[in-house]
This record gives sequence, structure tokens and C-alpha cells, in this order.
Amino acid sequence: MSAERIAVIGAGTMGAGIAGVAVSAGFEVTLYSRSVTTLDRAHAELANRVGDDADRVVRTTDLAAALDEATLVSENVLEDLALKRDMFAAFERHAPQDAVLTTNTSSVPITAIAEGLDCPGRVVGLHWFNPPTVMPLVEIVRGERTDDTTVERVRAVCAMIGREVIEVHRDVPGFVVNRLQYAMLREAIALVEAGVASMSDVDRAVATTLAPRWSASGPLELMDLAGLDTVEKVAGILMPDLSTQQDVPMLVIERVAAGALGTKAGRGFYEWTPERIAAAVAARDETVRLITERRIAG
Ligand SMILES: NC(=O)c1ccc[n+]([C@@H]2O[C@H](COP(=O)([O-])OP(=O)(O)OC[C@H]3O[C@@H](n4cnc5c(N)ncnc54)[C@H](O)[C@@H]3O)[C@@H](O)[C@H]2O)c1
Repeated sequence: MSAERIAVIGAGTMGAGIAGVAVSAGFEVTLYSRSVTTLDRAHAELANRVGDDADRVVRTTDLAAALDEATLVSENVLEDLALKRDMFAAFERHAPQDAVLTTNTSSVPITAIAEGLDCPGRVVGLHWFNPPTVMPLVEIVRGERTDDTTVERVRAVCAMIGREVIEVHRDVPGFVVNRLQYAMLREAIALVEAGVASMSDVDRAVATTLAPRWSASGPLELMDLAGLDTVEKVAGILMPDLSTQQDVPMLVIERVAAGALGTKAGRGFYEWTPERIAAAVAARDETVRLITERRIAG
């Protein structure tokens, strides 16, 4: 059993999953939320994902108690800078002085979250992917004032929980994975908006060509495999034609305004029944599991 004691703050989609990963790794885990209802929902989700281990997660609505003996804090509250700053101020007040303070923000700069704290050196981005129980990699994001020892501590914890790490050296919005993802999402939406292909054909094209290839090699290795002279020629023709749109796409704005938020609302780009949602989640998780197992084996 490890001596790590993890305080997971925020028990929504990500908090519940991260608590599950940490407890399965043998850590002591405390999960904090403002409401018992959210904690109960998180427990049910955890039981679904990690079975009996879910019962070892201590649930609390008392923030100070959650932080009291933590060696590492994982912040997973709403994506809002003011809220995250308040949370980190509370972490400094209540967590032990040598606890590492991590944020799972997807887009807020780590440096901004750490601003005004007495010890910004122990604040670091530890960015997980959904669902954390399945996704094999995390991004460690350095703020401008993050200490090297903090990065090393977080690396060691990631090794203990069996997560691959990439280190993001500069605190740019979206870090590495979301920047890559949104470059692709922008072009996917632009293709649909321009009537080049249907939504389902764009999705199928990615799922059956780019995604399987990218699961074996990243884009830079793939360029080497394609031949950089070819890449140079194609880039010369394509780069000027790709979407450079800076605004949020209308296709997204219109759906959000109409309440079509995706699976959680039963409709988004597609119509979703509970059965279809369950099948899509199962297919996603199973595919990630298979690819991860193959990477570990090979
Ligand atoms: N969902 C994803 O795919 C994903 C992936 C990586 C990172 N993240 C990041 O993780 C964080 C959490 O996202 P999520 O998807 O779990 O969101 P979520 O909405 O499921 O959970 C957020 C939690 O924050 C709580 N919260 C809101 N206001 C609060 C307050 N004032 N005090 C205390 N708690 C409060 C909510 O009750 C909720 O339980 C965000 O920063 C998000 O950007 C999300």
C-alpha cells in the first residue's frame, strides 16, 4: 500500500473517475463535493467502473477535512478561473505544506491559477482525459513558477498509477492534446458547414483512416512515413485552403442555443437514445483498452 493520500476536489465526470484510478492504485482517497447528491452519484459511477474499490473512497462535503492529510490534491471543479483561484487559496490554507497541488483544467493557464498564492512552486497542471479510468496518458503542465521537484513528484505518482506522461513545457492554452484536437474539430465542422461531406461520413472517415493510423504513430512520425517531399507539396496546396476560422462555429452555437447539448440532452449533432449512448461509450472504452493493451504488450 502506498503512502500517497489523494484529495480529489470536485466529484463530477472527471473527479469521480480520477478518484477511481487513485483508489485502484492502492492510494488513500478522499473525494470532496459541496453536495451529498453529487457524492452519491459519483459513488455509483465509481462502483460501475472500479467495483468494490469504490467503497474505500472517503466521501466528504467538508473541504478542510478532505485536504487535512493530503499528499497530492487533484482539483476538478468547474472550468472557471475565479473559482479555481478560490479553491487553490483554500488548498494552501488547509493542505499540508508539502502537498502537491494539481489542477485538471483543460484550458486555464496554470500560472493564472497559481497567481497570488504563497507557494506557486507546488502548483502544476495534471491534465487527465475522459474517462480517466481508461485513458492511458496524462499531460503534466508546468506553470511559469512550478518547481522541478513538483514535476518530479507528480511524475512519480503517475508511474505508480500506471499512466504515461507527456510534459508540456510552456503554459499555452489547451496544452498539447486539446490544441491538436480542436485543430481537427475546426476542420471537421468547416467541411460539414461547406457541404463537402455529411456529418456521419466525416466521422466515419476519421474513425476508419486517421484514428487507427494515429493510434500507431503520431502525426510527425506519419509525415516521415509519408515522405517529407510529398508532405511539402501537399501542404503547399492544402494549408492555404484549410479553415482558419477564429470564432466558435455557428453549427455549435445554434445547437447549444436549442438545448441540443449532445448525449446528455439526448440530441446534439445526432439523436441519442440511452441504448445508443451506452453502445457508443462501450465502443469507445473498449477501443481505447485494446489499443492501450497492445501498446503495453508491444
Ligand atoms: N469532461 C472532460 O472531458 C474533461 C477532461 C479533462 C479535464 N476536464 C476539466 O476537469 C474539470 C471538471 O470538469 P468535469 O467535466 O468533471 O465537470 P463536471 O461539471 O462534471 O464537474 C464539475 C464539478 O464542479 C462542481 N462545482 C461547481 N461549482 C463549484 C463551487 N463553487 N465549489 C465547489 N465545486 C463546484 C460541480 O458541482 C461539479 O460537481 C474542469 O476544469 C474541466 O475543464 C474535463
